[in-house]
Amino acid sequence: MSKYFLGVDVSTTASKALVIDVDGNVLVTKGNPHELSTPRPLWSEQDPENWWQAASKSIREVLQQIPAEQIAAIGLTGQMHGLTSLDRDGKPVRPAILWNDQRSTAQCAAITARVGEKHLYQHIGSILLAGFTAPKIMWVRENEPDVYQRIAHVLLPKDYIRYRLSGAFVADVADASGFGLMDIGKRDWSDEMLAAFDIPHSWLPELCESPEVCAYVSEEGAAATGLKVGTPIVGGAGDQPASGVGNGIVVKNQTSLTIGTSGVAYAASDRYAPEPDGRLHTFCGPMPGTWLHMGVMLSAAGGLRWLHDEFAPTLSYDELNRHAESVPRGSLGLLFAPYLTGERNPHPDPFARGAFVGFTLRHGLPHMIRAVMEGVAFGMRDQLELLRSLGVNPSEAVVAGGLVNSPVWKHLTTDIMGIPLYTVNTGESSAFGSAILAAVGAGAYPDVPTACARMIRRVETIQPDAQGAAEYERLYPAFRGLYPALKNTYAALAEFES
Ligand code: XUL
Repeated sequence: MSKYFLGVDVSTTASKALVIDVDGNVLVTKGNPHELSTPRPLWSEQDPENWWQAASKSIREVLQQIPAEQIAAIGLTGQMHGLTSLDRDGKPVRPAILWNDQRSTAQCAAITARVGEKHLYQHIGSILLAGFTAPKIMWVRENEPDVYQRIAHVLLPKDYIRYRLSGAFVADVADASGFGLMDIGKRDWSDEMLAAFDIPHSWLPELCESPEVCAYVSEEGAAATGLKVGTPIVGGAGDQPASGVGNGIVVKNQTSLTIGTSGVAYAASDRYAPEPDGRLHTFCGPMPGTWLHMGVMLSAAGGLRWLHDEFAPTLSYDELNRHAESVPRGSLGLLFAPYLTGERNPHPDPFARGAFVGFTLRHGLPHMIRAVMEGVAFGMRDQLELLRSLGVNPSEAVVAGGLVNSPVWKHLTTDIMGIPLYTVNTGESSAFGSAILAAVGAGAYPDVPTACARMIRRVETIQPDAQGAAEYERLYPAFRGLYPALKNTYAALAEFES
């Protein structure tokens, strides 16, 4: 009997394949990189063929260690929102336009005005962002009419891999939420949004739930990867919902804070209740009858990397940590606004920028390092407050991402959150989560929470320090004042950037 589960993650930087057993032990992981192209300012593109080459190679590599007949099911995950447009023969008509591409702000404004802000937010669970898929389709219509004429299918990145593996045009509802074309409460494509964008329904993939088997490996897919013909493929989920599963965030009030290059606060919900001003994304959850809330900080741990690379390239990260530890809480009155690449939540503003506020002659590099760590943690606290405003009330949260490698950053973040944070055993949480979805689809577990309870283990719990939490609580309002105070300045600075 087949006993292993394969997760495939098409991220922005690489495609990875990971195999787990029924207890959640990772048996093998392989990955191959992708190239990213930015042919013009604001553009971010990748060649779907490049994803397929990297993903199929990674699968072939894991199958050198695990016999293909032992793979009971496959779960897919990947970067969300990327427009992958194909012609009638399933060939890409142009490079994919990625989640971090900003070219379609005018299209977002037009649709928002046409549909009406509040109604739109209620419908699609969020403000409409240039990163979402539908405004990019509209951009192609308006700017590349010849290319637009040839489109017959639009898919998300991981669903292009499903297509190459199986020939099926299918998306799960959690990833498809990021099109901006669904009625999120009804878990279906929205006729109203399709009409507003004037996009044909026939272009869209069929929808399924994340743990549901929705396709099978074809002869072509098997020949390219070494997988067995007929291996079931579950819906899977976008990288954030899959990571939610991989971190065990599957029951109401469970929350995770993933602080890597970007920062994501994520919570599970058992009903559809979007943030009234669209300041968080409320999307379909990766389990039937569930939804998720998600807030994204575009630059999080990336801020420390920037400080290191530009101002302290000769220091090791251990030295940065020691500098941060040598400075008292509050960095002697120095605050950092962490918006180095614009912001998404709670300040959806492409012109938001980084700022140090409060320099005196006493400040030096160590204070800047600590202020960056604190500014990023305060940005995550903003996300937590948005979750709380929706009734999410976590008594503790999972912390994941590169930040967990810095003890000082992990502890000050715990103090700024004011609740215990804990780490779990699942490093590659998106690929791991998609493999869990595969395990449920294969019938190894009756549902996702049961699978998570068995496979995910708590590693370390960090308690907030009472005095630290109280001091940061006093500083937090000053941080909250930064963005409103700087908003107009940011807008005025924009014209000097090019
Ligand atoms: C989610 C999002 C990113 C991408 C790339 O809304 O834009 O998480 O999925 O990681």
